Amino acid sequence: MKYATRLLFMILFFSVISFSIMILWVNKAIEHDSFLTIEKQMMEKADLCELSIREILARHDKETMETDPSAVAKDVLSVLKASGSEVRIYDAKLNLLGLAENGIIRYDGTSSIYNENLESALKGNYAYTVTDQHLIYFAIPIQDKYYQTAYVFEIVEDISYFYDILDTIRTIFIIGAGGFLFLITLSGLYIARRTTKPIKYLLRATEKFSRQQFDPVELNRKDELGMLAAGLNQMGMKLKEYIQYQKQFVSNVSHELKTPLAAIRGFSQYLQEGKTEEQDLKKISFHLINESDRLTKLINELLILSQFDSATQDLNAGREDLSELTDCVIQEMKANAEKRGISIEADLTTGVLAIVNTTLMSHAIANILENAIKYSHAGGHIRVETYVDCDIAVLKISDQGIGIKESELALVQERFYRAGNSNFASGSGLGLSLCKEIVQKFGGQLLIESKLGDGTSVSILLPLV
Ligand SMILES: Nc1ncnc2c1ncn2[C@@H]1O[C@H](COP(=O)(O)OP(=O)(O)OP(=O)(O)O)[C@@H](O)[C@H]1O
Ligand SMILES: [Mg+2]
Repeated sequence: MKYATRLLFMILFFSVISFSIMILWVNKAIEHDSFLTIEKQMMEKADLCELSIREILARHDKETMETDPSAVAKDVLSVLKASGSEVRIYDAKLNLLGLAENGIIRYDGTSSIYNENLESALKGNYAYTVTDQHLIYFAIPIQDKYYQTAYVFEIVEDISYFYDILDTIRTIFIIGAGGFLFLITLSGLYIARRTTKPIKYLLRATEKFSRQQFDPVELNRKDELGMLAAGLNQMGMKLKEYIQYQKQFVSNVSHELKTPLAAIRGFSQYLQEGKTEEQDLKKISFHLINESDRLTKLINELLILSQFDSATQDLNAGREDLSELTDCVIQEMKANAEKRGISIEADLTTGVLAIVNTTLMSHAIANILENAIKYSHAGGHIRVETYVDCDIAVLKISDQGIGIKESELALVQERFYRAGNSNFASGSGLGLSLCKEIVQKFGGQLLIESKLGDGTSVSILLPLV
């Protein structure tokens, strides 16, 4: 079922329920209130009748020694015959003494009709019963001079007018409810349309996203839907950037793989042709080893990057002394530096502790030191320091090499970016970006300071533990 239809049904369902409860309640309230009014009217009438009958009784008492119930009944009926559509008078034994129907007095009616009422009246209470024909039988106790209930006077009234009023009210309510439901349906349709319009728009936007069409999503409203649209828009832009970045990444990787592979193929073909002198052979094997190393390094770095890109990677980090890690890396790379006459000065403070993974962090340190060697002039000097600065573990590698232009300082940390000076040495432009990502994984950051022609210093800053 569509959202708009469901919304409409929900509005109608709750409206019908609320309206029905309201009608039932109002109906009950009117019925109860009207009955109270009828009861009050009957009581007032009963009081008047009782007064008149007492007067008649008093007159009889004065005139005769012993009161004759039939004579009393006759007088009562002649005075009160029009008090109701039917009036009846009974003696203390509930024998019908007489009745008047529509003002006509008769003495031959059916004795008691609602005995319970009459018995209750005999005990001195007012009592009434309403029949299915909407007649009210109201029994009034009449006491003699000894305060004994000597007669029961019964008034029968037709109260169908009251039920007619109730029926009219109910009809008005039902017609009102119909009109109300009609209006509710119209407003429900309007609300459902208005609510679903932006949702449909957002739905279309997500469908376009799935087809990689990232058109801007704008709703121009400040409520939750507006926020959702803004969120979708942002997601679309990020997704677009990410897809472009992935495409760029794949093209960069293939390009970087092609160069060493082409070199390896060229040298191998040269070897196959077999015209190589002893001298050339050494050179070719040197190049082959060089290019293979480059390929291996590149593939290793790509593997680390791809692991970082998948969010589930387990870092396996522990509390390590950065100075020890750095010392190991320096020992491994010292020979390389010395080959070019570059000296490495180490100023390492022990106890510079951080939570890191030794393999990844050693890789990052090696990359920075490799850059320092690679981009230093022959006979240059490199300084490696570890120290603590305000709860931060710092590892700083400074060289006096070719330096980086200020405008390129941020860019060299991007994947595959090589600065304008990069012709100075070979590389693929992945090293620093990998360092940055490794350091960030352990809650730290990479700081690069450099001046073109003067040298560069790269610092790894990590939270001290
Ligand atoms: N110490 C440095 N001195 C001068 N330039 C540097 C230094 N370190 C990095 N750069 C510049 O930053 C660029 C990016 O460095 P990065 O280490 O990411 O790549 P690479 O050294 O070119 O290749 P890779 O490290 O992947 O073999 C380098 O190409 C170089 O231009
Ligand atoms: Mg590098």
